[in-house]
Amino acid sequence: MNTSFIQYEDVSVQYSPYVMGIDNINLSIEQGEFVFFIGPTGSGKSTTLKLLTREVEHTSGHLWLSGKLLDHWKESSIPILRRNMGIVPQNCGLLPNKKVWENINYALRAIGVPRRTARKRVIEILEQVNIAQRADAYPSELSGGEKQRVAIGRALVNNPPLLIADEPTANLDPECSLDIMSLLMRLNDEGTTVLVSTHEHHLVTMLKKRVINLSRGKIVTDDVPSLDNNYLAPEMYVYSGPN
Ligand SMILES: Nc1ncnc2c1ncn2[C@@H]1O[C@H](COP(=O)(O)OP(=O)(O)O)[C@@H](O)[C@H]1O
Ligand SMILES: [Mg+2]
Repeated sequence: MNTSFIQYEDVSVQYSPYVMGIDNINLSIEQGEFVFFIGPTGSGKSTTLKLLTREVEHTSGHLWLSGKLLDHWKESSIPILRRNMGIVPQNCGLLPNKKVWENINYALRAIGVPRRTARKRVIEILEQVNIAQRADAYPSELSGGEKQRVAIGRALVNNPPLLIADEPTANLDPECSLDIMSLLMRLNDEGTTVLVSTHEHHLVTMLKKRVINLSRGKIVTDDVPSLDNNYLAPEMYVYSGPN
C-alpha cells in the first residue's frame, strides 16, 4: 500500500547501455512539501523530475504519483496526468508575439476555460505572481526575472497541486533568483507541492527547505539544512582585512 504523494521505489533510468540517468532512487515526497534538487550537471536532477511529467520513462523500479502507479503509463494518458501539474520550463517558453496577459489567457483558453472566466483568472494569476503591472508588455520587453514570473503564472492555470520547475533560475542573477525562489515558496505556503532543481547551492542552503543532493544519478544527502551555530554560506563571509 502506497500512501505518499510521490514515491520512487528503486527507480532507475538507463538511457543507453553506458548511460544511467538515475540509479536506484528511493524517495518519498508528501503533499505540501517544498523540495530542492541540487547536484552538478549530469547528476540526474532533470531525469528525476521528467519522470513525473513522463518526458522520461523509468527502465526499472516503481513510481507513484497521487496514488497512481506510473509504470507503463500510457502515452495517451499523459495529457490527463499533466493537467494536474504545473511545469515551469527553464527558458520560460513564452509566446513572443503575445503580451504577458495574452500568454496567460492563451494557456487558460487552451485548457477550455470560457472566455469571460479566463479574463478574470488572468488578473488573479498576474497578481498571484506579482506581474500585473507588466500585463501589456511583450516578453522581449521583460527582464529575465519578470519572464520567469510569467512562466510560473502560466504554470498555475490548472490550479495544480504540484508545481515542477527545472532550473527556473538558471539564467538569472542572484537577486532575481532569490525573488523567484521566494515566489515559489509563497505558492508552497498556499498549499502547492513544489519541486525545484537548481545549481544554486548557497541560495538553497539559506532557504531551509528539504534539499536532495544528487551525484551520478544517486541521492547522496536528503535533509533540511540548518543555519544553527556559526554556519555561514561562503559568499556571506566578508573579508575585513587583517587587524
Ligand atoms: N535524453 C537523454 N539521452 C541520453 N542520455 C541522457 C539524456 N538525458 C540525460 N542524459 C544523461 O543522463 C545523466 C543525467 O542527466 P540529467 O538528468 O539531465 O542531469 P542534470 O539535470 O542533473 O544535469 C547525464 O549523464 C546525461 O548525459
Ligand atoms: Mg538538468
